[in-house]
Amino acid sequence: MRHQHRSVSLWILLASTQALGATEEPARYNPDTHVFTLSSPQVTYAFGVNEHGELQSLYWGGRRAPNDTLPAAKSDAGLSAFDPSNGATPQEYPAWGSALYTEPALKVSFPDGNRDLVLHYLSHTLNGSHVSVLLKDISRDVRVELRYDIDPDSGILARSARIENHTGKSLFVQQSAAATWNLPAGNEYVLHSLSGRWAAEWHLDHRPVLASQTVLESRRGSTGQQNNPWFALAPAGTGEDTGPVWFGALAWSGSWRITVEPDVKRRIRVTGGYNPFDFSYRLAPGESLDTPVFFAGYTPGGLGEASRLLHRFELTHVLPQAPHPRARPVLYNSWEATEFNVNEAGQVKLAEMAARIGVERFVMDDGWFGARDNDHAGLGDWVVNPRKFPHGLQPLIERVHALGMDFGLWVEPEMVNPDSDLYRRHPDWVLNFPGRPRTEGRHQLVLNLAREDVRDHLFRVLDDLLTRNDIAFLKWDYNRNWSEPGWPEQKPEDQQKVYVSYIRSLYWIMQRLRERHPKLEIESCSGGGGRVDLGIMRLTDEVWPSDNTDPFDRLSMQDGFTYAYAPGVMMAWVTDSPNWVNQRSTSLEYRFLSSMQGSLGIGADLTRWNEQDFQTAKRLISEYKSIRMTVQQGLLYRMISPRDGSPYSATQSVSSDGRQAVLFAFLHSSSMLYPYPRIHLKGLDPQARYRLRVVAGKPEENTPVEASGDYWACEGIELMLKGDFQAAAVVLDRVAPQS
Ligand code: GLA
Repeated sequence: MRHQHRSVSLWILLASTQALGATEEPARYNPDTHVFTLSSPQVTYAFGVNEHGELQSLYWGGRRAPNDTLPAAKSDAGLSAFDPSNGATPQEYPAWGSALYTEPALKVSFPDGNRDLVLHYLSHTLNGSHVSVLLKDISRDVRVELRYDIDPDSGILARSARIENHTGKSLFVQQSAAATWNLPAGNEYVLHSLSGRWAAEWHLDHRPVLASQTVLESRRGSTGQQNNPWFALAPAGTGEDTGPVWFGALAWSGSWRITVEPDVKRRIRVTGGYNPFDFSYRLAPGESLDTPVFFAGYTPGGLGEASRLLHRFELTHVLPQAPHPRARPVLYNSWEATEFNVNEAGQVKLAEMAARIGVERFVMDDGWFGARDNDHAGLGDWVVNPRKFPHGLQPLIERVHALGMDFGLWVEPEMVNPDSDLYRRHPDWVLNFPGRPRTEGRHQLVLNLAREDVRDHLFRVLDDLLTRNDIAFLKWDYNRNWSEPGWPEQKPEDQQKVYVSYIRSLYWIMQRLRERHPKLEIESCSGGGGRVDLGIMRLTDEVWPSDNTDPFDRLSMQDGFTYAYAPGVMMAWVTDSPNWVNQRSTSLEYRFLSSMQGSLGIGADLTRWNEQDFQTAKRLISEYKSIRMTVQQGLLYRMISPRDGSPYSATQSVSSDGRQAVLFAFLHSSSMLYPYPRIHLKGLDPQARYRLRVVAGKPEENTPVEASGDYWACEGIELMLKGDFQAAAVVLDRVAPQS
């Protein structure tokens, strides 16, 4: 144990102190060998042009010595007559043509019936950490620009493609990925992925990669709860702390697909981008199609380090406030307390109670607009309900401000109830196939944002709402998936562009709102965690992981969530007990500690709290504020996983400056007098001294109040947890050296 902790931290330490040589650009090209390399201090990614002119993957793994010349690409002869070279060679962006039997990155059809496409190298440009390679079909003027970027900090690569039609006629793109990632041969890989459904998101799956395709996808028009566009591939035996991991996340909030597939020589290819199911995108002469960005990285430091690299990358490169997102405020949300039953007096009362315990942002959820007394009516009519708010939102917002909080509001802009003024005026604004049923989900239909008039209307309505009212935050909800995805106003051959245009309009609206209202923050919610991906995350500051707010269920969801996404974006509310999901009763302290592992929110009905509840909440919110930067933006170590029926779970976070560590520990149920496992802390400086502060629970009585990082790692800490649904949390603050 002791040896293992040391070797991993040593690797991290070495990696972070290494740097690229002064003259060494992250992206390089060797004209003699035709080899491109993208390097960070820890990672090298290489590809080259082979003797046929194909762009061939060469290497992806630990950093290669810059003074070694990587051998030129040489096509793969395949194994037999059944697998000719073109299909066997691991290409960077294989088009469907010639004899390709594995998943293509690109498939097109031409108006003359030809569907053969073979891409060869044409030219390239290099700039700092960026490489762009232009490929062209062997006879027709279809070009593909492949774009690569490497983040010198994390070694995470960003890849995307632009497909250009320079022929004189329209062509149809039937399948277009952002990238194909080729992994080194010779490993028995395990695929780790995230699956779920409403109220049960973020289940971490593991499966061996077999000799067939494994498809992760959404056909729902949005990211979806069923699969999340994240993967990690690692040789069997790779764990949290050691072993090589290749991981990736697709930045797209529409239908998507990631295909994992071994070739005849058992080399793994991962291809991901737009979901080709029901996909067709016509490119007129001179037009082009951009794919989403597919991010991917490598680490030898296990699944834990893979997550930490992704978290850091999201905080510094993806989120709207990157590279320095501000701390997430502690928010209150009224949904579970009032549901649709909102009005000025009730919300003011909740706001006053929330302010007492230290809440910083008060959010009014569904029910404030139109005829919205339940989920049957009102969506689409974004006007304040005069019965519930006779003087508009202003008096409530002013009261919230006077109480020292900022104000947030729930919206679900992309949807409409058939029972709404908007739908009565514009029944043609929804996705539909004329003459066919319009399938409802939660009594609502999906507005077709691909239409410019719909997009512009939504922008105007939201812009107006934000201009008239001092709103710091929108909880942007999206409570159903697509059905009958028709766009009848377009020519039949252009209707399937809806899969791309809708999402671009969504991003466009959010982007413009943020530009016009620079203080605005947004949460991505979709009936829980149905729209969480690196695409929406470029425009939203936080996400709602699940409607399931049971603090015990949340432990395993939060565990799964953090494989792909940073704890800082993971909203976690303290709600009422027994929880509405499963009637489970837990203490207020337990609920707080579960939520304090992410971005803390309160969603309980405060009118039912007693004085002691208020005192507990006040104390724990104040504790949270002193550790939130560590939890939200620090390095997360999943110490004991709550998955697979484990009665225990624990997480530890270390602040990015190394000054603070926070440990959360949970016990589901004691059995047979077994003590709670001793926890050996990670990521501390062995020489530095750390002082222990107990937030909740009790350490074993001989635990020192101050000791070295070495002590906390080697001796560990024993927490006296006994009983059912118990929790503890301790903080270790680094003691400043005596001068
Ligand atoms: C969705 C959200 C909830 C709440 C309701 C309101 O289910 O996930 O948090 O906002 O909508 O209708």
